Amino acid sequence: MKIIMLGAPGAGKGTQAKQIAGKYSIPHISTGDIFRANIKNGTELGKKAKEYMDQGLLVPDELTCDLVVDRIGQDDCKNGFVLDGFPRTIPQAEALTDALNKLGESMDFAIDVDVPDENIVKRMSGRRACLDCGATYHIVSIPPKKEGICDVCGSELVLRDDDKPETVQKRLDVYHEQTQPLIDYYKKQGILKSVDGTQAMEDVFANIVEILG
Ligand code: AP5
Ligand code: MG
Repeated sequence: MKIIMLGAPGAGKGTQAKQIAGKYSIPHISTGDIFRANIKNGTELGKKAKEYMDQGLLVPDELTCDLVVDRIGQDDCKNGFVLDGFPRTIPQAEALTDALNKLGESMDFAIDVDVPDENIVKRMSGRRACLDCGATYHIVSIPPKKEGICDVCGSELVLRDDDKPETVQKRLDVYHEQTQPLIDYYKKQGILKSVDGTQAMEDVFANIVEILG
């Protein structure tokens, strides 16, 4: 099963993608997580990506497309994968479509997790992330067992650099301008499904499972 998660920053793409990956035993591929791991490890890619991410801008397509096309060609993706945060521009979507076409394949579902902008800023300021294992918490709705410490791996939790309110607004603007057009792109391919992302997390997941079957 090959799935794309669409939705604004903070809509819950990562939260849902992790659960989908668990239930259907497919890898969760988050370009944001890949960039953050590179930043943490001080790689060249990380240095370049950070310049854009900290401003709430998209990392250029040249740095992003090949990375994902390589990743989905790996062995563990043979039975499918769930993409979280990619594609984010029409050229990225076209690069993905082309890469799959060459293998005689195509995506099965593009799931849009729909949350209005008003709800987003509130969610982001409460989010805490583990940069070691990628787990995500919320100080009110999903607090870790021990404040500031990841339940999964015991590392320190952080407020992401790009979750400051002024950067969140910029990310929302960029989303509406560059990523929202993908909703039409996948509607035309006949694989778009929408879920109401303002519901409780379990209910959002139940809706997604109904769609995926
Ligand atoms: P990325 O890491 O992908 O960030 P994003 O799209 O902005 O999305 P987020 O991770 O912020 O939100 P999410 O939808 O995953 O929500 P989450 O589940 O955490 O990208 C970061 C940056 O990297 C980009 O800005 C860009 O610079 C760069 N980048 C990445 N991919 C790129 C690409 N393809 N091309 C170019 N640049 C790229 O949930 C948010 C919070 O809400 C959490 O605290 C969570 O616990 C809580 N929550 C989740 N669901 C619910 C619910 N139902 N009810 C209440 N709270 C909830
Ligand atoms: Mg995410």
